[in-house]
Amino acid sequence: TILVLDNGSQYSHLITRRLRELNVYSEMLPCTTKLSDLAFKPKGIILSGGPYSVYEESAPHTDPAFFDLGVPVLGVCYGLQEIAWRLGKENVVAGTEGQREYGLADIVAQRHNSHTDRLFEGLEDAMQVYMSHGDKLSQLPDGFCTIATTQNSPFAGIAHTEKPIYGIQFHPEVTHTPRGTALLRNFAVGICGAKPDWSMSSFCDQEIARIRKLVGDRAQVIGAVSGGVDSTVGAALLKEAIGSRFHAVLVDNGVMRLNECQQVKETLAEHLGISLTVVDASQRFLDGLKGVVDSEKKRKFIGNTFIDIFEEEALKIEKRAENTPNAGKVEWFLQGTLYPDVIESISFKGPSATIKTHHNVGGLPQRMMDGQGLKLIEPLRELFKDEVRDLGRQLGIHEDLVMRHPFPGPGIAIRILGDVTPERVKIARQADHIFISMIREAGLYNEISQAYAGLDTNKAVGVMGDKRQEGYIVILRAVKTTDFMTAEAYPFSMDFLMDVSRRIVNEVDGIALVTYNTTSKPPSTIELQ
Ligand code: XMP
Repeated sequence: TILVLDNGSQYSHLITRRLRELNVYSEMLPCTTKLSDLAFKPKGIILSGGPYSVYEESAPHTDPAFFDLGVPVLGVCYGLQEIAWRLGKENVVAGTEGQREYGLADIVAQRHNSHTDRLFEGLEDAMQVYMSHGDKLSQLPDGFCTIATTQNSPFAGIAHTEKPIYGIQFHPEVTHTPRGTALLRNFAVGICGAKPDWSMSSFCDQEIARIRKLVGDRAQVIGAVSGGVDSTVGAALLKEAIGSRFHAVLVDNGVMRLNECQQVKETLAEHLGISLTVVDASQRFLDGLKGVVDSEKKRKFIGNTFIDIFEEEALKIEKRAENTPNAGKVEWFLQGTLYPDVIESISFKGPSATIKTHHNVGGLPQRMMDGQGLKLIEPLRELFKDEVRDLGRQLGIHEDLVMRHPFPGPGIAIRILGDVTPERVKIARQADHIFISMIREAGLYNEISQAYAGLDTNKAVGVMGDKRQEGYIVILRAVKTTDFMTAEAYPFSMDFLMDVSRRIVNEVDGIALVTYNTTSKPPSTIELQ
């Protein structure tokens, strides 16, 4: 394992990502982690960038024990400054106007000997890199030499002349540093000696073995499924590990997409052979949503009702299990937590304002955990989304499902502005189905990160067969994003949008006009509410 100690940079987790892409296993922990907290001995340590100045009172500092461990250390940006500052407070100063570097820069590698040159081994002398720093090194710490310079930074890269300690002022983890991954390979594989043997099939085998050991040979596990990638992959993994002692529950909340419930049933029960209970609670949800227009109220109602129903089902499953001679109690609850959620909770940063309560990120099972004494099982918590997709392929889940766009827990209720009536749900569903089918037919589905058709609050006036006719306003949304934190509208051709519009207005009763939301996130969000 290569340990990344996160000093709070928005790019820290990308270091972990890049290493895993090199098949080197890496984990990120907050910079406040002490060596004595670790359950493993890392092969190497990377100190990430961060928003602080090392000389500030509130700045975080690395536990000195990591430097005494004897394993190689690479400091990136703030990490470099931390290395220099530890060896002399005067080594780091604030950059003056015109000397700060934000954006692309050209570095030139400086070669000395076979030890210091290892970080840039096999790389060209001149490279484009991405810089983002106000502070800088004013001088080399004792025992170090310069291994890279830019026009503005005489110390863009440094290395200890004997010890395996390196520092770079630029960010190797971002795509704007094209040779950054090669540099990280030099560090992790070349300098640290980490083996590039981490793969999804080995992860899958290890995880199945771990789950079997954890759950034992009697206990049962329950999990909610939605038809999304994460819950399906989690369920398939549990099925592989403990067979019919895993029970999936699908709650039809009345605001899923057209035919979705049926499709999930086919996939989970028939294609994957998972023991599945479908609870049709659509009426209960639609009744409760009547007159609710505020998005947070919609979310809260759907989230809470979901937990109520799920709890009721869990008790029923437990009752049924009591009567089977081989089965034990339901002791575990499957949760599809992914690594970005974990990173979100361990990242070293101040509290950020809640923009929307995404109920599937933490919090959901807490009442169940407390009330029924269930323990959490989170087999995906070390994986990024595309790694979950790879794991899904490994488990034989078909490509259509593996590549599915994410879909929010509150379903189309947050894609319908205003009242969520059965009529409006039906209209939104049909429009959405046409839009998504046309995206698929055009071969654009996998290029787009998320797409849907939603409904505006008001009606607009239209004309049909010479008659004035009022109808709803459809809002199409399609975005491209990697992390769902920022997103751009997908640049469809006008012809395509006009075709979609024509089909929706012709085929769905009650629609007057179709619009396309071209606003990026921020300032817009991906969902309408
Ligand atoms: P926003 O609208 O905040 O969405 O730009 C970002 C991502 O989060 C999903 N999302 C949700 N998922 N429950 C969920 O399970 C929610 O309440 C929720 N709200 C937004 C959204 O679909 C997008 O992928």
